[in-house]
Amino acid sequence: MRTLVDIAKQLGPEMSGLLDAFTQAVVTLLDEIPNVQGTSSSFNIYGEEQKQLDLLANDLLLNALENSGCVSTIATEELDKPKKIAERGFSVVIDPLDGSSNIESNNLMGTIMGIYQDALNFPVKPSDQICALYTVYGPSTTLVFATRSTAYELVLVRKGEYKGKFVEKKANLIIPEKPSVYGVGGSKKSWLPAVSKFVEELEQKGLKLRYGGSLVGDFNQVLHNGGVFAYPATLDRPEGKLRHLYEAGPIAFIAHAAKGYASDGKSSILEKPITRHDQCTPLYVGTTAVVKRLEELMRS
Ligand code: AHG
Ligand code: MN
Ligand code: MN
Repeated sequence: MRTLVDIAKQLGPEMSGLLDAFTQAVVTLLDEIPNVQGTSSSFNIYGEEQKQLDLLANDLLLNALENSGCVSTIATEELDKPKKIAERGFSVVIDPLDGSSNIESNNLMGTIMGIYQDALNFPVKPSDQICALYTVYGPSTTLVFATRSTAYELVLVRKGEYKGKFVEKKANLIIPEKPSVYGVGGSKKSWLPAVSKFVEELEQKGLKLRYGGSLVGDFNQVLHNGGVFAYPATLDRPEGKLRHLYEAGPIAFIAHAAKGYASDGKSSILEKPITRHDQCTPLYVGTTAVVKRLEELMRS
């Protein structure tokens, strides 16, 4: 049985060490989810009130990764700016808790992380990442890990010899070419006409609407079932809601490893420069042909 740490060895021993530290932080976070509820009195740079669990997830991951000894910079959605830790080492970009509006209702949440080889000198592109992953805190805790060429699904073992480790469930994940689900964020009245047309077409083709309010959960079902997830450009937010560095970048990297495609509506998210740590971008991600059709509608 291969663990996350075993799979990461192809990227060198430091990457294994980093992902071991990440796993330990996730295990601690899972123990705390039932106990830590409610908001804090602080706001992040996007003007969103931080939940106590957002802050805890951020602290746990920061501590674990700082202590791993192989990270030079950590940038997270909850920090005002990237934090430099050492001269040499990987740069990690993290959404510590994605879907935190789902805490009270106990719907899906997860953690998103992208890893760059060296210092984070803007502009960077998501294609510069060497690997990326996300977790899903659901009925079981799963993790999708991607190198440039391959996406793997792992599951956190809760008992026995492998307790507390992510073990391989499936290698070579491929987003199905036949689409069956779609989810689009933002309120319908704020969608651009091309997005409304796109959704009409998806419905006519018989795709089923699935929207859960967390990027990890919503993208994860597209990865498994085929289709598209979008948090689009809207009339009031032309750059969308999702963060290019922390959310769209790692998810785009994973989608490409699974032979899918991620676009900002015009071109590939993977090649779109990130000039600021707090940059947002529209995101359309999933089965390649479906996302390409959206691009076509946006052009016309
Ligand atoms: P976060 O919890 O990290 O702030 O991210 C929330 C994001 C993303 O997960 C999701 O796709 C989107 O916000 C949901 O937005 P709505 O609540 O507007 O549907
Ligand atoms: Mn998020
Ligand atoms: Mn978050």
